[in-house]
Amino acid sequence: MLLETDDETVIDSLNRNAREVAVEQFGNTVWLRALIEWSNVCRNDCLYCGIRRSNPHIARYSLSHEQILSCCDQAWKLGLRTFVLQGGENPSAAAALAQTVAEIRASWPEAAITLSLGELPYDTYALLRRSGANRYLLRHETANPVHYARLHPASMRLETRLACLRQLQELGFRTGMGIMVGSPYQTIGDLIADIRLIEAFRPGMIGIGPFIPQPDTPFGDRPAGSAALTLRLYAILRLMLPSVWIPATTALGTLLPGGRKAGILAGANVMMPNFTPPAQRNAYALYAGKTDSAREAADNLTLVLQELESIGYHV
Ligand code: 5AD
Repeated sequence: MLLETDDETVIDSLNRNAREVAVEQFGNTVWLRALIEWSNVCRNDCLYCGIRRSNPHIARYSLSHEQILSCCDQAWKLGLRTFVLQGGENPSAAAALAQTVAEIRASWPEAAITLSLGELPYDTYALLRRSGANRYLLRHETANPVHYARLHPASMRLETRLACLRQLQELGFRTGMGIMVGSPYQTIGDLIADIRLIEAFRPGMIGIGPFIPQPDTPFGDRPAGSAALTLRLYAILRLMLPSVWIPATTALGTLLPGGRKAGILAGANVMMPNFTPPAQRNAYALYAGKTDSAREAADNLTLVLQELESIGYHV
């Protein structure tokens, strides 16, 4: 089976085919998104995540309206045309963020605004959409409800997550789903169910990165997921959904030196350089050793461009 084989010829031809499909769709081009981790305040307590509510070891922050706009301004001036506002799940803060979204929309009418703010009431999703947001990322984390229950507190349900994804699609958001590869208790059967669910849902974007333990969480001593299996999934999903957007994720770059580059060569077509102000970035510690953590945004961007140039891609 493709997911499990370690036959190098099979893996090479899988990657080559996936890359060909990506190049047919997008050319030798990678699309950049400016990642702005606007707040690490979160009401959830996911067992894998460093910004879970019950982690007392991180300083909580939220960027001000002005700080967010200045991140966008910096990204726009460096040529980026999509802003990704990501944050912990915090419904009242998300509703208040609609004003900032509206101002970003008014200031940069041609930009795409992507949000990643977790599970929110339908009305808040609708408000954010009306305020000018066009895309929304909400990883489903696993298609298996039993596995979902082992990764999350009892109050969280896979059903709710999937209902949110459907609402987002109905509201006209370009919607992204996805998983962590190698999360605790994950089986190959679970990954197959994930692939099937993604195929049926037809998201516009797919976010997949390896699980990386974060010491302050209950899964702090679990092994990290496999970078190779992450790349395998990019290639398989690229072949199944030729026009979907697949970022080569930060988690992949953290786990494997040159991992994001390898991601592009396995069929991914998006990279998300970090534009969170360096002072806050370390506190957005979803997992240990996050790549790019201390650098200025412009330096991060240079690094990404160098990686891409070295494999003959441009942005
Ligand atoms: N390792 C890798 N990815 C993680 N995420 C959260 N914690 C970790 C971790 N320890 C991912 C989840 C979540 C997204 C915001 O970050 O998939 O959806």
